[in-house]
Amino acid sequence: MMLRHIISMKDFSHDEIDIILKRAKDFEPIARGKKSSLLSGKILATLFYEPSTRTRLSFETAMKRLGGEVIDLGSVEKSSVAKGETLADTIRVIGNYADAIVLRHPREGSARMAAQFSNVPILNAGDGAGHHPTQTLLDLYTIMRESSLSNLRIALVGDLKYGRTVHSLAYALSMYHADMTLISPKQLQMPDVIKKDLKKQGASITETTNMEDVLGDIDVLYVTRIQKERFPDPAEYQKVAGIYRVTAELLEKALDNLIIMHPLPRLDEIDPAVDRTKYARYFEQSFYGVPVRMALLAMAMEVA
Ligand code: CP
Repeated sequence: MMLRHIISMKDFSHDEIDIILKRAKDFEPIARGKKSSLLSGKILATLFYEPSTRTRLSFETAMKRLGGEVIDLGSVEKSSVAKGETLADTIRVIGNYADAIVLRHPREGSARMAAQFSNVPILNAGDGAGHHPTQTLLDLYTIMRESSLSNLRIALVGDLKYGRTVHSLAYALSMYHADMTLISPKQLQMPDVIKKDLKKQGASITETTNMEDVLGDIDVLYVTRIQKERFPDPAEYQKVAGIYRVTAELLEKALDNLIIMHPLPRLDEIDPAVDRTKYARYFEQSFYGVPVRMALLAMAMEVA
């Protein structure tokens, strides 16, 4: 399968996702250190207009372990963006240097706009409160490896309004006919436009504000951070900060096979004591970003 731009999970079919997940499995030994020169001679450019640890470094790791090279825009303040260069011009120029571009930008829709000006694949690494498709693919991969995508009962908890990871994930889960419970305070519910889309696709969705009540009925608990940086009014953030906290005591109500995921970074929504329980999978999840991004890079650069 040839990929071009990776902008939104809405652009993928179920079959295409399955191909990517299967390909990622083939890359796991290389992600763990086995030598490869598959992307030798290829260059990836990373453009992060917002902070990142996992996405930026796992793309970089994926590229380097496959024998390719990475160029990085660095801090926006030290690039010509600070002189007022537009995103469109920046993309046009970097397309002359690299074989693919990973872009994170605070503006929703920026990745799709960038794709219109790019002569190389754009991989959306998060566009504001919009989408984060490569995170979703690694989330699906984590579920496939650590639980099961069949007959999945999953709860998404936290900031479902501004959290781009859950927006992308919900679209993908609807393709797998997952039973989804959306847990958030009223003011951070999943946007209506997304819920409408999901229902049109026949998704099974229940909404609640209470995490405790659902713990005994789910296979995956997907926890998210309240996205402080997206709140127009800091006082509104203070009203919901710390509203959900997963603790070892709370997990006494959980099914034996429950796994807990989090795209990370976390603040206080998962107590560190949970890290030592059998339920925690968020650090494995961050590792799985490497084989999944290897698969995406290989496909985007047309070598797989
Ligand atoms: N999960 C995720 O996108 O993490 P970073 O913001 O550190 O890239």
